[in-house]
Amino acid sequence: MGYVMDTYSRLPVVIERGHGCRVWDDSGRDYLDMVAGIAVCNLGHTHEHVVEALRLQAGELFHCSNLYRIRKQETLAGLIADVSFESRVFFCNSGAEANEGAIKLARRYGSTLSKRGPKIVTLEGSFHGRTLATLTATGQDKVKKGFEPLPEGFLTVPFGDLGALEKALDDTVGAVLMEPIQGEGGVRIPPAGYLQGARKLCDERGILLMFDEVQTGMGRTGELFAYQHEKVTPDVMTLAKALGNGFPVGAVVARPGVAEAFSPGSHASTFGGNPLAMAACLATLSVMIDEGIPQKGREAGQYLMRSLNEMKSHHPAIREVRGRGLMIGVELDGDIASLPLDGLKKGILLNVIQGRILRLVPPLVISRDECDEALAIIHELLKEKGL
Ligand SMILES: Cc1ncc(COP(=O)(O)O)c(C=O)c1O
Repeated sequence: MGYVMDTYSRLPVVIERGHGCRVWDDSGRDYLDMVAGIAVCNLGHTHEHVVEALRLQAGELFHCSNLYRIRKQETLAGLIADVSFESRVFFCNSGAEANEGAIKLARRYGSTLSKRGPKIVTLEGSFHGRTLATLTATGQDKVKKGFEPLPEGFLTVPFGDLGALEKALDDTVGAVLMEPIQGEGGVRIPPAGYLQGARKLCDERGILLMFDEVQTGMGRTGELFAYQHEKVTPDVMTLAKALGNGFPVGAVVARPGVAEAFSPGSHASTFGGNPLAMAACLATLSVMIDEGIPQKGREAGQYLMRSLNEMKSHHPAIREVRGRGLMIGVELDGDIASLPLDGLKKGILLNVIQGRILRLVPPLVISRDECDEALAIIHELLKEKGL
């Protein structure tokens, strides 16, 4: 028994170094990284611009309380608004904290500005985090077990069913929170028209539509934000994971008129928006935009999806290949729980969700050769398993 609490089933490897799409363990062995810290290091590991920005900022100022103005916070909030929608931003430190902030903002907006009920509707299969409110919002019973009593005011409806959503939206509901593509739930894309339909239902009733883009954001799906595929703008969007390319950070992005539900004293975070995090985010976002990284990820994703679909003829156990950009799920018939461990032996980092879905979320800068390397190893692994 170690001193670290047992909250993860960890693989027997110590990763010590990374560059681009590759990481090295403590014995110097390298691995092709198809996980990217779970959709975090979208520019690849130790991207030189992000490293340099952190180095410079570390020599100037690590931390500054939000009791004072933080220039880089103001710049980043403006940049996020420029590349998404007219908004104001609250910075925090993780995805769960961003969603917790969005939930608080929705409740406060309902009670002070829109006078709607406090209930928040979420979707079955969703994942929004591990704090008490966000695990309650999450549409998977396994994350809630043993943590009762849970906060009140959440309702989960079936995934992708507009009729069920419409039925749930009575006047006790103030907001709908959903991932534009479900990540932990199994890389599930809602049916065509679902997000537009949800937008329309929320507009008709004055209900907030909040998109959790913690996993889908920052180019992961081939657009900077996944909602941009559907031309549906949310009232509130949450970000984290790739926002700082691995530096811990989160954000609640809310349109004017909603953002003002927060006022001094209603929400806060000691570390939220600290200069180091802001420096990492500014460097990440500028590389992302200047180098057209979402577009590069989209092309790599199309190549991987096409190749994985071609693999179906060799591997009948592949039931479906789905996803968008470099957020790809390969659903298999058969037990693939040991794939991440088997992958280590062949020099690749792989991730499996829901016991049967191989999730590929590599850095968006993955090259054609690296895609081919990953495909060859996956083919070998499935062949060895008789899948
Ligand atoms: C869609 C989504 N929301 C929220 C979270 C929680 O983020 P964090 O682990 O940074 O709290 C995750 C993490 O996987 C996620 O995928």
